[in-house]
Amino acid sequence: MALKNINPTKTQAWKKLSDAYNSTSTIEMKSLFRQDNNRKEKYTIAYNNFTLDFSKNRITDEIFQYLIDLANETDLADGIQKMFSGDKINETENRAVLHTALRSFSGKEILLDGTNVMLEVKETLEKMKNFTNDVVSGKFKGYTGKSITDIVNIGIGGSDLGPRMVVDALQYYKNHLKTHFISNIDGDHVMETIKNLDPETTLFIIVSKTFTTQETLTNALTVKKWFLQSAKESDIKHNFVAVSTNLSKVYEFGIDKDNVFTMWDWVGGRYSMWSAVGLSISLALGFDNFKQLLKGAYEMDNHFKTAPFEKNIPVVLALISIWYNNFYNTDAEVVIPYSQYLSQLVPYLQQLSMESNGKSVDRDGSSVAYQTGNIIWGNTGTNVQHAFMQLVHQGTKLIPVDFIGFDESLYGNEDHHVKLMANFYAQSEALYLGKTKEEAHLELKLSKNHDKIGQLLPFKVFEGNKPSNVLVFDKLTPKSLGMLIASYEHKTFVQGYIWNIYSFDQFGVELGKEMANKLLKN
Ligand code: F6P
Repeated sequence: MALKNINPTKTQAWKKLSDAYNSTSTIEMKSLFRQDNNRKEKYTIAYNNFTLDFSKNRITDEIFQYLIDLANETDLADGIQKMFSGDKINETENRAVLHTALRSFSGKEILLDGTNVMLEVKETLEKMKNFTNDVVSGKFKGYTGKSITDIVNIGIGGSDLGPRMVVDALQYYKNHLKTHFISNIDGDHVMETIKNLDPETTLFIIVSKTFTTQETLTNALTVKKWFLQSAKESDIKHNFVAVSTNLSKVYEFGIDKDNVFTMWDWVGGRYSMWSAVGLSISLALGFDNFKQLLKGAYEMDNHFKTAPFEKNIPVVLALISIWYNNFYNTDAEVVIPYSQYLSQLVPYLQQLSMESNGKSVDRDGSSVAYQTGNIIWGNTGTNVQHAFMQLVHQGTKLIPVDFIGFDESLYGNEDHHVKLMANFYAQSEALYLGKTKEEAHLELKLSKNHDKIGQLLPFKVFEGNKPSNVLVFDKLTPKSLGMLIASYEHKTFVQGYIWNIYSFDQFGVELGKEMANKLLKN
């Protein structure tokens, strides 16, 4: 069954939110905390090893209730249920949206057009497991009989960003295999990547759901040509594997039937790292770690499906985002992980969120008269404190922030970690508290600049009252990363659901592709 078609702006809750926004002068977070000693506890959700503190937002109890009402009035529960049960909610492409089936450990059937998709999911996972074990142990050999030392993932968008981000984020858990990613059609990057590789010991994974993507096919053909400088056509089966739904195109390329990992049209590209698209993750980290990643996502799926909305991490993240996006008219959100391991998280989230919700036509086919997808940007802390945080602290724009941190470091270097986390918490506090004129005045009075107070005072004031969410895990593990990613996937779904748009197609990327092809033909 299709998703319901409810214009959010016509709900009672939207009207109340709008009235609340218009009638209240600025909502002062400091006074909200003063009025309610319990605010932090009340607006913190803890689930397993994951805690979301959303107390530092311009949200009163009344507004929070209206946001929950908005989710109820648009019947979010119905949308969630339809997604998990394989209804064809990607209506414009007539497809189900079942990435959650890829990480389901419930043992229950998931039926799509009367067929239990879990059988194929398990089969593919089993194939990934065996293949991973063979490559990692050295049993799988390249065309001259040598074991594999290097893996090259060739893919773009969802066939690149997820695996690239996870392999980088979890490098602490990596085995001896060296991993490389080629995505851009920029030939220089391809040559830089392969120039030091040995064709005898390199395994190429061509990942393309459609197997028609210009970048991926061009890159794959260039790499094949390079490979054939030292090997024969019949050697391709030893050093090339593919992940795709388009089997005929894969065979045409010369890849052996046994070396193909299937995926399905009910998995969107940007939601596909849980499928065989994650083969490079499994190879780099070992299958057990890949499974832990799936388990983390599965835990978040269960939480998302069952927790009441006011205690539901992805739902709350989405509602807060809607509050700023649609009522404060903020354009952007910043995501700042305080872990260098997560330096690829933002590009991944940009595709997830912006390719999903960058839409301006609702489920009725009408142009929307309200804002939809926001701009996602960010980078790692503490680096950003020496770069763009100036604008977030003292600029003219209101930019909500997600801070992501971990209680423990992986190598146990306490000195560094204590400093890292002090900065992590300090940023969120500073954004919220700011610095008043009086405080800045006193500070200047006590400083060596006491004679320049009149001149410097305006520049030393921080408005404060800037919102942020604080997301903390105990430790960066495959499981916690799985939970984190699934939280953002579901946040994206909830936003698109409430905005009454289709989040699982991406027609907006086609026009540029067509134009590029036209230019190439001229
Ligand atoms: O151009 C957009 C897109 O279709 C993404 O949605 C997708 O992740 C990417 O291209 C790659 O597509 P494919 O896996 O079919 O090569």
